Amino acid sequence: MNVITQTADGSNTLYNETIGEHYHSKHGALQESKHVFINAGLRHAREVFPDQPLQLLEVGFGTGLNFLLSTAYAEENSVPMAYTGIEAYPLGTEELKSTNYGQYVSADIWNKFIEQYAESLVNEVQLTPQVKLDIAHTTLETFNTGQTYHLIYFDAFSVQHQPEMWSDEIIGHVCSFLKPGGIFVTYAITGKLKRALKSFGLKIEKLPGAPGKREMLRAVRL
Ligand SMILES: C[S@@+](CC[C@H](N)C(=O)[O-])C[C@H]1O[C@@H](n2cnc3c(N)ncnc32)[C@H](O)[C@@H]1O
Repeated sequence: MNVITQTADGSNTLYNETIGEHYHSKHGALQESKHVFINAGLRHAREVFPDQPLQLLEVGFGTGLNFLLSTAYAEENSVPMAYTGIEAYPLGTEELKSTNYGQYVSADIWNKFIEQYAESLVNEVQLTPQVKLDIAHTTLETFNTGQTYHLIYFDAFSVQHQPEMWSDEIIGHVCSFLKPGGIFVTYAITGKLKRALKSFGLKIEKLPGAPGKREMLRAVRL
């Protein structure tokens, strides 16, 4: 059962009663998504891979907030993007609507997202001129693909609430989907995560965290 709640920057999130955690930072869902995933992730990936359509993988698609902001960026900057979400427990369309995230993107992006979300769980959809979306309705543990990605958003519930998502084995599994030079971003940073990423051949960068958090992590596959 998920309950809608407001975070410190006025944007909404969902509280997952089973896991006992919010889908986003309670210090600000919108701020965190922009800081960690759009600014440290997508903008940076665009600088590193300026001339290529971007292939992006998100672990934990959830409400689609990261997706919506990424789509707005892609449309504003004319960046072709194929976005794959992995989601074990997809939300219903009514739950997506209850977030009110339409206020952070154009009406066109929001309406197309709401209209085509259910289809994107089954087939890839061309959601906007620049952006294709497909959501793999599966766990990260069983997700597999022949494809590799320029950028991975790792947005799992925290290690305190879902430690199995942060095991060395799972981190190795997700990193195997990165292209050489590909970028991994997440809101959290721990010694164990850094050691695991290094052991899989990634170079770690510590960056200032979103409001309310000291640091975040970005890593690059060498
Ligand atoms: C922190 S929330 C993600 C927030 C999301 N990025 C958003 O913007 O709303 C974590 C997500 O991971 C999903 N999840 C939990 N266990 C999973 C698993 N084993 N594999 C894939 N997704 C999982 C949850 O259902 C939830 O949607």
